[in-house]
Amino acid sequence: MTTRSSGFMISEDEIKARVKELARQIENDYKGKNPLFVGILKGAFIFLADLVREITAIPVEIDFIATSSYGSSTVSTGVVKITKDLTEDITGRDVILVEDIVDTGLTLKYLYNLLLSRNPRSLEICVLLDKKERRKVEVPVKYRGFEVPDLFLVGYGLDFAEKYRHLKYIRALSPEEVRKDEGEK
Ligand code: IMP
Ligand code: MG
Repeated sequence: MTTRSSGFMISEDEIKARVKELARQIENDYKGKNPLFVGILKGAFIFLADLVREITAIPVEIDFIATSSYGSSTVSTGVVKITKDLTEDITGRDVILVEDIVDTGLTLKYLYNLLLSRNPRSLEICVLLDKKERRKVEVPVKYRGFEVPDLFLVGYGLDFAEKYRHLKYIRALSPEEVRKDEGEK
């Protein structure tokens, strides 16, 4: 593994261990229930896939919702658009909204309120990464994998201009890499 200039990374093993812990916690909290896991596309697809495969003690149902991305920029516009809605009716369901990363909180805040308006029995948020210092709006995160510094992160579902999602680990993109990628366009 080469470390880049900004150096921050979360290894495959660290991610695996933490995802297992989150799954145990969820199984425990949802004993006797039939939760619906809602993954936010595209970023949450790998985290959700790994998380649900660690859940064995309770039934699992899965759905997806997709929001518009930032395009190829690394800065949030604060504009949230639903590009693909749920296929399941969540009325009376125990819903767990699964996201890769919470940054300003704008995306999750919007989706949380949207799903809440559909009258689920319960609604909780599970994020792999939390960039706490960047928060602009309060979001009730129940399950959190890692608190991370204010760096642009890629891998394990997280992209930069649609690249890097397939990496098994998470690492920070250096400013040079961001500049290089933007120059390629
Ligand atoms: P928020 O609305 O500012 O909380 O942004 C959340 C969304 O921005 C996430 O779903 C990600 O798609 C994207 N995002 C935020 N930070 C990063 C990052 O460091 N790397 C890749 N995507 C990010
Ligand atoms: Mg996302």
